[in-house]
Amino acid sequence: PGFAAIIPAAGSGTRLGKGPKAAVTVGGRSLLAWAVSALAPHVSEVVVALPAGLELPADVPAGVRTILGGATRQESVRRLLQSVDAEYVLIHDAARPFLSGETVRAMQAAVRRTDAATVALPVADSLVLGGGTPSGQQTTVQQPSTSNHPPSFWVQGVPRENIWAIQTPQGFRRELLLQAHARAEAEGFAATDDAGLVARLEHAVELVEGDARLFKVTRAGDLALAEAVAAQWGQ
Ligand code: C5P
Repeated sequence: PGFAAIIPAAGSGTRLGKGPKAAVTVGGRSLLAWAVSALAPHVSEVVVALPAGLELPADVPAGVRTILGGATRQESVRRLLQSVDAEYVLIHDAARPFLSGETVRAMQAAVRRTDAATVALPVADSLVLGGGTPSGQQTTVQQPSTSNHPPSFWVQGVPRENIWAIQTPQGFRRELLLQAHARAEAEGFAATDDAGLVARLEHAVELVEGDARLFKVTRAGDLALAEAVAAQWGQ
């Protein structure tokens, strides 16, 4: 009964370049310890998927169970889902350390209402569809060394009304998410998050307004920001 929290933390942390992210420290504490401490008071169980060869960082609160993750995030989540029996699950990326109790409670209320919900943030920036060199133009553009993307040009502005950036935690009735994962696997469909798999079943997914501090620590520059938030957290 109630909620289990599952944390996929089996990535390699390639973009951050500091080894598996779960063990990277921010404010003197591992990312995984931040995530577990935020969730544990609200759930009956916390289960973490780790990459082969990584143990739980020593500062993770006691009582957390671990399993071996899969080759993709989706596979890690599927394994986690099969390892719990709660009615509802909250899924949270270890790479998002700053999760408030208020957000966890808002998510739990939404999941009880609708069986499927995700934290999301209304987009603040202007949005644009980018693309290759417009036809007829002979411009050669050198790829900037800081970018992983090919040179791109403004093709068309995108209205940002009602556009949301998806974060975690995401929450579901466990049976519903198992069904969404089974369908995705059977159809060879991959998504970067679980709400995407459930939306694909044409099941409603409620958007719960998140918080800019829930950003994902992905690239080296994010660590400086994370240190700044850690210094303020809880004050
Ligand atoms: O790569 P990305 O930042 O989207 O990963 C999101 C989360 O999924 C991270 O917490 C990462 O550790 C986890 N993950 C996983 N198993 C994988 C790949 C990623 O649990 N094979």
